[in-house]
Formats: sequence, C-alpha cells, structure tokens
Amino acid sequence: MDKFIVHGGNKLFGKVKIQSAKNSALPLIAASVIAEGKTVIENCSKIRDVLIMCEIIRSIGGKAEFVGDRLFLDTTDVNSWRLPSSLTGEIRASLFMVGALICRFGYASIERPGGCKIGERPIDIHVDALRSLGVKVDEGEEIIFSGKNVNSGLITLRFPSVGATENAMMTALKGKGVTTIKNCAKEPEIVDLQNYLNLLGAKVKGAGSSIITVEGFNKKPSGEISFEPSPDRIELGTYLFALGAVGGELEIETKSFKNLDIVLKIFKDNACKIHIINDKIYNISISGRMRSFGKITTGPYPEFPTDLQPQLVACACSAKGVTAVEEKVFEKRFGYAQELKKFGANVDVYQNLCLVSQSVLHGANVVAGDLRGGASLLICALSAEGRSEISNAVHVDRGYYKIEEKLSALGAYVKRASY
Ligand code: EPZ
Repeated sequence: MDKFIVHGGNKLFGKVKIQSAKNSALPLIAASVIAEGKTVIENCSKIRDVLIMCEIIRSIGGKAEFVGDRLFLDTTDVNSWRLPSSLTGEIRASLFMVGALICRFGYASIERPGGCKIGERPIDIHVDALRSLGVKVDEGEEIIFSGKNVNSGLITLRFPSVGATENAMMTALKGKGVTTIKNCAKEPEIVDLQNYLNLLGAKVKGAGSSIITVEGFNKKPSGEISFEPSPDRIELGTYLFALGAVGGELEIETKSFKNLDIVLKIFKDNACKIHIINDKIYNISISGRMRSFGKITTGPYPEFPTDLQPQLVACACSAKGVTAVEEKVFEKRFGYAQELKKFGANVDVYQNLCLVSQSVLHGANVVAGDLRGGASLLICALSAEGRSEISNAVHVDRGYYKIEEKLSALGAYVKRASY
C-alpha cells in the first residue's frame, strides 16, 4: 500500500502539462470493442483506472499495450461478452463496456460495477435506457443484457447520467434506424465519444447538447483509428484549487480551458490573475489570499463539476470568509470532510450542504476514501503547516498519474512511501 508524505507551506511555481481526460479515455477504451480492430489513444495517461480497463479488454480476448503515452488497442479477437467480476468491481467505467458489447455481440453481462464510494451508484437509468431499445435485462447477481435485435427509437433519461448517455449511444448503434436520446449528459467527454464513434463510421450527432441522435451502422473502418481525448478538465481544476490554497504562479499547458469556464470565472472573480499566453498556455497567478467563493452548487455539465467539489472545499479552508457548497449530484460526496477536520479545517456538513470557513491548518495523518476526496486531502496537506501523511494513495492514483512528481516539480514537498 502507498501513502503520500507532505510537508506543507510551499507555494507552487512552474509549468504543468495537463493529462488527457480520464473520463474520456475510459469510455473510449470500452468503445474500441465496437471497432473490431486497432485503435490508438494518443497522449493517454497511465492512471490506474485506465490500466484496469486495459485488463478488462485483455480478459475478453483483446490486446491493450502502452508505448510511451500511446495506448495501442486491438479488439479484433475479442471473443466474450462476459465481464470478469474480479475487474469490474474495481471501477465504475466497467459498466460502459455493456453498450459496446451489446453493439458488437448483442449480449453483455456484468456483476457489481465498482466506483468511488460517493453514493449508491445505481444503474437504473442505464437499464431503463437499454430497455427502451428492446434490450432484455435480467438483474440477478450477474446482470445479463440480451439485445440480439436492438430497436431504434426514443430514449428519455430521467437524469442526465454521463455513463447512461454513453451506454445508450453505443447500444443504439446496433439499431437499424435512428435513435434519439433526450436529456443527455452534456459533458465534453460525451463529445469525445461521439467523435470517436463517427471515426468508426457511425453517424452520431448532438453530443454536448441535451439531445443526441444515433444512426446505426453496419460497416467497420479498415485500418487503425487514432484518437486524442480532450484535456482532463478535472485535473486542471485540481491544480487551480491547489494554487488557490497555497499561492504562487503556474504556467498551465492544455489544449483548452473552454471546458472549465465556470471554474475560471470563480478564479477571475477572486485574488487571481489569468494571462493567456496563447491558445495552449495559460499563466495563472494568485496575489494574496483567496476570498470566499460564496455559494457554490454542483450539477451536471456545464454547472459546477461535482468532481471538483472536494478540491474547492479544501481551497476554501485557506480562503478568507465563509464558503457554502451544495452537492446535488452524489449523495455521499462529502465523506472526505471528516478527514479534513483532522487538519483543523472548519468544515461542517449538513446532509448535502457544507459550510467552510478560513482555517489554521496543521499537519495530520489522514486516510483517502475516494479519488477526489483524496485530492482534497492532498490540497489541505499542501497548505497545512508541518508534516502530513495521506494513506490509501491508490485512490488518488486512479485519476492522477504520479501526482507526487508533478507537485514536487512545482516546489511542493510530496513524497510517496509504502507501508
Ligand atoms: C461519471 O460517473 C464520472 N465517471 C464521474 O467521475 C462523475 O462524477 C459523474 O459522471 C458525474 O459527472 C466516469 O466517467 C468514469 P452519473 P457516472 O451516471 O456515469 C445517479 C471521477 O471522480 N445515477 O452521471 O457513474 C448517480 O447515483 C468520477 O472522475 C442513478 O441514479 O455518473 C449520481 O447521483 C466520480 N442511476 C448521478 O446519477 C443510474 O443508472 C450522476 O451519475 C446512473 C446514475
């Protein structure tokens, strides 16, 4: 098991290159099963969730190998639609394999998909969407999806679920006509999936809006498909909140900030200067202490991302005034707050509302319980006076590749140790 050892109090200075989006790479790896051939995912981050998805592809007969930061997938020889519970229980994204397997084989089976313990994580929206297309779903210990003949038609999601939108898009490809999916998730990662599926010869339109149309296809592309996912807007936001917590100046290289307008606005309205050097490089500096963020409410894109809620709370511990955060996506996403208190953080949670006020933070030994909660603990440790230890680093490794090296290169004292 690994932990992070942090000595807080250092400002951050230097250049950060943003990895490609975890929440794009994962559905793209699933969708590569539809290609029945070779796909290269460019600039792909070797984060733990990606490595587990590669294991899942190998477990059903496919190939998945990294050469540098290029992920070579070959799903020609995929020969099973049964997903191994030993792997699917590790990550939520295993669930996204279902749509791809139904599209290719007409069947899929999965036991308990995993995922961060940030709420119940049900799959009813996925099941209802697939049933709307005539897919039979037997929900036992093993959930078996049978869709030899998938209808085309209308799906209306009761909530804009990211994963359910992605599964619906991939399943609808098996239909003979045009399927309309309403109340879709609008995340940039959905646009990446649409663009990849269209490289395979599909006709998917509308991603990024609340209505997506999917036209079935029956021809496969010849040759290798190469695709680069968009930048990881959550990694980008994590560094912004770390900077906001400790101060300093960062030069951030990323293809675009456009997917993070709502976060950038929070910084622009605060003690922060943002200088756009060109369309790829942004200079962000924090002059003085951040002020309270006021009231922040999370929601489906383009609202404030739930995946940055823990990082914002950690940053708010160092800001002047009181910040109120309302979590409207995952019912148990404030689980990390108990650990933040060990740093001396003034953080009070009332169901899905959290009040944070300026705190005098001291080093502490804490335990990460999930990916973004772990990032929140790291940010607090960076701004706390003294030494901290963050156990269960594996949670953070799921979404951030060698974060201790990236932060150390910026002047932070963060080391990895085994225990
Ligand atoms: C994706 O999870 C992301 N994961 C999550 O990122 C992200 O927080 C989430 O979307 C919301 O943006 C990946 O893409 C791998 P949802 P997903 O379905 O698809 C409820 C991270 O930190 N719901 O949009 O599982 C659900 O309980 C991770 O990178 C149902 O009720 O999220 C939640 O309250 C964490 N029934 C809400 O909808 C369902 O069938 C949003 O979930 C599905 C979801």
